Amino acid sequence: ENTLFRDIIAHAKEYGFVYPSSEIYEGLQAVYDYGPYGAELKKNIKELWWNTMTRFNDDIVGLDSAIFMHPDTWKASGHIESFNDPMIDNKDSKKRYRADVLLEEKAAEYENSGDQEKADTLLKKTGQLLEAEDLEAVRALIIAEDIKCPISGTANWTEVRQFNLMFSTQMGSVSDGSGKIYLRPETAQGIFVNFLNVQKTARMKVPFGIAQIGKAFRNEIVARQFIFRMREFEQMEMQFFVRPGEEMEWYEKWRDMRLKWHKAIGIASEDLRLHEHEKLAHYANAAVDVEYKFPFGFKEVEGIHSRTDFDLKSHQEVSKKKLQYFDPEIGKNYIPYVVETSVGCDRLFLMLFCSAFKNEEVGEGDKIKTRTYLKLHPALAPVKAAILPLTKKDGLPEKGQEIYKSLKGAFNVVYEEAASIGKRYTRQDLIGTPFCIAVDHQTLEDETVTIRHRDSTEQERMPVSELESYIMKSTSF
Ligand code: GAP
Repeated sequence: ENTLFRDIIAHAKEYGFVYPSSEIYEGLQAVYDYGPYGAELKKNIKELWWNTMTRFNDDIVGLDSAIFMHPDTWKASGHIESFNDPMIDNKDSKKRYRADVLLEEKAAEYENSGDQEKADTLLKKTGQLLEAEDLEAVRALIIAEDIKCPISGTANWTEVRQFNLMFSTQMGSVSDGSGKIYLRPETAQGIFVNFLNVQKTARMKVPFGIAQIGKAFRNEIVARQFIFRMREFEQMEMQFFVRPGEEMEWYEKWRDMRLKWHKAIGIASEDLRLHEHEKLAHYANAAVDVEYKFPFGFKEVEGIHSRTDFDLKSHQEVSKKKLQYFDPEIGKNYIPYVVETSVGCDRLFLMLFCSAFKNEEVGEGDKIKTRTYLKLHPALAPVKAAILPLTKKDGLPEKGQEIYKSLKGAFNVVYEEAASIGKRYTRQDLIGTPFCIAVDHQTLEDETVTIRHRDSTEQERMPVSELESYIMKSTSF
């Protein structure tokens, strides 16, 4: 399994999707850069999500709020007080770990060795202790379970402490700490503080939603698994404002719609599941995760949360500004309840990449070869089509250029004439290009080309005049 994940990470780097940040300086932990094809794929993911939210839903509008927010925002949201992870240090190796993750990994060990009951008991106990914030008992449990530091091999642990995940910085030139501000750990708060601005200026009526895509920052202690858990990442969040009392109905509706969406972008049903939370975040009264079966197990990709009126009420209290809505249909003033859908763009990228990565055996007898390709939904593929003249002579490059120029205004297409046609097909397979268009001698005679399909490798002839509408139809969502 982990070999598969290693192959996926290597592929992402080798073919220009994801690089470690500042790699020439040995990288920066849990920070990554997107290469040419990664940037295209990410842009397509964002566009698809944005269109799903703001175009397919007449009652959702967009927003682009700043990363920096007034420091009181994080008092009101509860992030200063409660956005913590319990951490523990090993005194010998001086390495820091998340206490809950150490216990979860121990439970996974029990599970793998077939002792499901022991695994469940440990997970339940861990959940209870964390909920009660009994940090001493968490440490005692780590010691009782004889959990050792993988580096030093000892169980010489410090006490468990709460570690706030927010990054802070200084605004202006104040050195006494009064200019301390935070990098937002979620984009949602920008939506809450703008709730009335948007409602009034876009003349929205409850129920309605506000969607936003933007960077978020968390000083994650456990930074592993490539772009699954990053310190700088992007979120795509939508807050849906509803009448108090109607939130559960909307929560269920959004949960079902979001699960459907993940299937529609090409993820196999059996690789997706819903996981209801037992331990709720400080703002939620119900929460469910959409989980995907990554090579390292089922893990969260998106969260759907019923956040009650927690945030708006709290911002009203701290800011002393009314955040109420007058509902003309029932003639009442109230603070709306909120159902949110929150998905990490990078995590969605990783899910799509893992799901698209195919290593298939082709050929027969002693001619069996492995064919690697990315089976991405054509709407998400970084390059939609490659225009490939069969040879570099007889006017084929000129014809190829002509076709390339006629398509490049509408799609991200590439033109390539170097190397054999087979090698060029392979190269496009590796970056997930759904169509390869070969220009040959017949093209000069009858204005037709062959179009090769990435997944089946089958080819068909098609008039040049039909290419644009064919690609348009095949790459839309
Ligand atoms: N506003 C709600 C919220 O932020 P969350 O469950 O903490 O909820 C939502 O985060 C989503 O953001 C997650 O499902 C995940 O996809 C993504 N996410 C969270 N932390 C992340 C990290 N460190 N790296 C990458 N993605 C992350």
